[in-house]
Amino acid sequence: MSEYEALIAAAKAARENAHAPYSNFRVGAALHATSGRIFGGCNVENSTYGLTVCAERVAIFKAMSEGERGFDAIAVVTDVDALTAPCGACRQLIWEFCGDVSVVLANLKGKREIHRMKDLFPKPFDSSSF
Ligand code: THU
Repeated sequence: MSEYEALIAAAKAARENAHAPYSNFRVGAALHATSGRIFGGCNVENSTYGLTVCAERVAIFKAMSEGERGFDAIAVVTDVDALTAPCGACRQLIWEFCGDVSVVLANLKGKREIHRMKDLFPKPFDSSSF
C-alpha cells in the first residue's frame, strides 16, 4: 500500500481544487502513468448538473491530452467513511484507457482499499466486443 502514498497525496491535492458548489462532495483523483508521471483531477460541477465531470475523467483527459499512454494505477480520494469508488461512466473510461489497473480508494482519515478494475467492471463492453 505504501507504494501508493504519492498517488494518494496527489489525489488529495487535486481534491483541494474541486468545484462542487451543488453537491458539496469534493473528489480528487490521480492517475499514475507507466512513464512515472502523475496526473491529478478534481470534480468540476455545472449548474446544469448533467455537464458535471468527475475527478477521474478530468485526470484521464489531462493525461491523454498531454500525450501520455499506458497507466497502472488510479487513486480516488473523498472525505467519507464508505470509500468512494468510480461511477459507471468513469469505469467505462478507466477500462478503455487504463485496462485492468489498480484502483486505490482513500479518505482523509487514512482509510484505504485497493481493487482491480476487472473486479469493479466485470464483463465490459470494449473494442474486443465487436
Ligand atoms: N464524483 C466524482 O468526481 N467521482 C466519483 O467517483 C463519484 C462522483 C463527483 C461528481 C459530482 O460532482 C459529485 O461527485 C457528486 O456526485
